[in-house]
Amino acid sequence: MSFGSPHRHSAECASTNDLARAWAMDADNPAPHGALVSADFQTKGRGRRGRQWQAGRGESVLMSVLLRPAFSPTEAWQIAFIAALAVSDAVGACVPHVALKWPNDVLIEGNKASGVLVETVHAGASGWAAIVGIGVNVSQTKFDPNTAYQMPPTSLRLSGGQVPTVSVLTEQIARALELRLAQHAMQGWKHTRADWQARMAPGIVLQRGPEQGLFVDLEADGRARVRLPSGTFACWATVDAEESANTPPNQV
Ligand code: BTN
Repeated sequence: MSFGSPHRHSAECASTNDLARAWAMDADNPAPHGALVSADFQTKGRGRRGRQWQAGRGESVLMSVLLRPAFSPTEAWQIAFIAALAVSDAVGACVPHVALKWPNDVLIEGNKASGVLVETVHAGASGWAAIVGIGVNVSQTKFDPNTAYQMPPTSLRLSGGQVPTVSVLTEQIARALELRLAQHAMQGWKHTRADWQARMAPGIVLQRGPEQGLFVDLEADGRARVRLPSGTFACWATVDAEESANTPPNQV
């Protein structure tokens, strides 16, 4: 097992994804595959589609793992699903009723306990890398009522399960990510997709701008198959045209 080592921890930073990016690009001492960055607090934590990610000091897992994947960057979108499975493995060991919302939210009893933000780095001759940013609400009991997220937030403490320390859960997620990536390398996307489908939350309504669609299935290309109010089916991509204006091009 090597994920989580080397590990750089900060009491405070703007975003662990930024620290991981800088470390990945450090010409003298570049972060190796599996290197971990964590923090007690982020001043500019970010989520998918330009949202802010807020977490109280020391109450939340705030981590980024640097990957130097063996596969092509055209398959980088698969990392988000692999990471969601890894987080659900670790969170599911603490609380029951853990499920996945497309593409990579971990829900506890239908509420959002975690988010994953995958960003890519193109580091010239050294190839590409992916930064897997993970936030998990551990001991928060109060949340901003004006959240930009569709699902209401929750934490492990609020869900009444075991509440591990943030550092223990961080290590467990890093290990779970390593195992899930190894499984993906051996068995491929078909198997990862089947595992994701086995955990998908039922009855999730996705919002895309003004449109709503009932999530039906994860397509082989990572898109969401949804049933529209008209009764017809459509496939939605993670970053679609109308939302891409808010989505930096390196976000998966
Ligand atoms: C989302 O659900 O929109 C994804 C949230 C990802 C938050 C994590 S916290 C650690 C890492 N650093 C960041 O700035 N974001 C990710």
